[in-house]
Amino acid sequence: MTRRSIGIIVNGVTGRMGYRQHLVRSLLAIRSAGGVPLADGTTVWPHLVLVGRSEAKLREIAERHGLDDWTTDLTAALARDDVQIYFDAQVTQQREKAIRWAIEAGKHIYTEKPLAEDTAAALDLARAARSAGVRTGVVQDKLFLPGLRKLKRLLDGGFFGQVLSVRGEFGYWVFEGDWQPAQRPSWNYRSADGGGIVVDMFPHWHYVLAELFGEVRAVSATIATHIPRRVDEAGRPYEATADDAAYGIFELAGGVIAQLNSSWCVRVYRDELVEFQVDGTEGSAVAGLRRCRVQHRAVTPKPVWNPDLPATEDFRSQWTEVPDNEDFDNGFKVQWEAFLRHVATGEPFPWDFLAGARGVQLAELGLLSAREGRRVEVPELAL
Ligand SMILES: NC(=O)c1ccc[n+]([C@@H]2O[C@H](COP(=O)([O-])OP(=O)(O)OC[C@H]3O[C@@H](n4cnc5c(N)ncnc54)[C@H](O)[C@@H]3O)[C@@H](O)[C@H]2O)c1
Repeated sequence: MTRRSIGIIVNGVTGRMGYRQHLVRSLLAIRSAGGVPLADGTTVWPHLVLVGRSEAKLREIAERHGLDDWTTDLTAALARDDVQIYFDAQVTQQREKAIRWAIEAGKHIYTEKPLAEDTAAALDLARAARSAGVRTGVVQDKLFLPGLRKLKRLLDGGFFGQVLSVRGEFGYWVFEGDWQPAQRPSWNYRSADGGGIVVDMFPHWHYVLAELFGEVRAVSATIATHIPRRVDEAGRPYEATADDAAYGIFELAGGVIAQLNSSWCVRVYRDELVEFQVDGTEGSAVAGLRRCRVQHRAVTPKPVWNPDLPATEDFRSQWTEVPDNEDFDNGFKVQWEAFLRHVATGEPFPWDFLAGARGVQLAELGLLSAREGRRVEVPELAL
């Protein structure tokens, strides 16, 4: 089988996402599987150029995984003719300028979300990439979660009738860092460093809502910084300046109302770390990361409100599990494979920089709504 090598700069590979999801679970997993097969019988083989700031950390990761191509010099890596793709999983604030360099170097670009810190910058990147004729992609991993794939299947099969509303709960307790270390990087809790749950999660909510239920036409959000002081990775207390919870209402084209709570200050009494309940005229579903359960109109019980008596029904047992019916691979890996096919063959890839800019826009307008205490309409973005 003919194997075609594609050189990929993996920048930010020492980070949580860069290492675990992108390097190990996606790119190395693709290599272990022999590459990405194409329709013409050839295979795309990712050649990885690890890039970061710390020589020691890069060397350690490279050695751990039997890789030998790494550098702390991004400019030199971008100048290489055998590199076709720049991938960015750095902290958000470092992204825009690195992507600009990559566009100037004529590389195709795949990046973590959010694409940039504001809509104007994100759109500008999308325009610059289009002018340069490079292909672009932004991570939209939640679309590939088994739970959401099953939800999409229900929607495509007409299970819900008319969808009325979506309510989502995302979150878990992120430790403050004092008596137990925090499980997320401290920059997430400082506005000046690009942190905040709105910029982190609203880009995800944008594509989940748009792809499943309709484009977001208006947003109303209330945000909070519930935990004002935290302790960082080095044990130093700091002021948490960024929002750590967001309570949002999203009005969608077609009339669906979505309410999504996002919080790093909530203890989990759910089955999964994110769950969406979808109610429609014909049936309802509750989808999480992996599971999806449904209740059809024909089997919907008729509860009667009577707080004087203990609950007589076991409501959870009245739902039916949606079967997998297929093998679900890691969502990051599936999207990487699609992007590599896009670069290699021009196969369509809808999750481009314009899609990424729409996610940034929703975060920006969500913050505006919260700041001004009002509902904000979301204008259509175009290049
Ligand atoms: N798709 C998702 O579900 C998801 C989840 C979490 C984070 N993210 C995104 O991934 C990105 C990285 O997040 P993370 O949680 O992995 O963060 P992290 O702090 O674990 O990693 C950040 C990376 O950026 C590098 N970095 C830090 N400061 C830098 C600087 N000043 N200059 C250059 N590089 C710097 C670090 O060395 C590290 O490699 C963020 O943009 C975040 O929004 C996406």
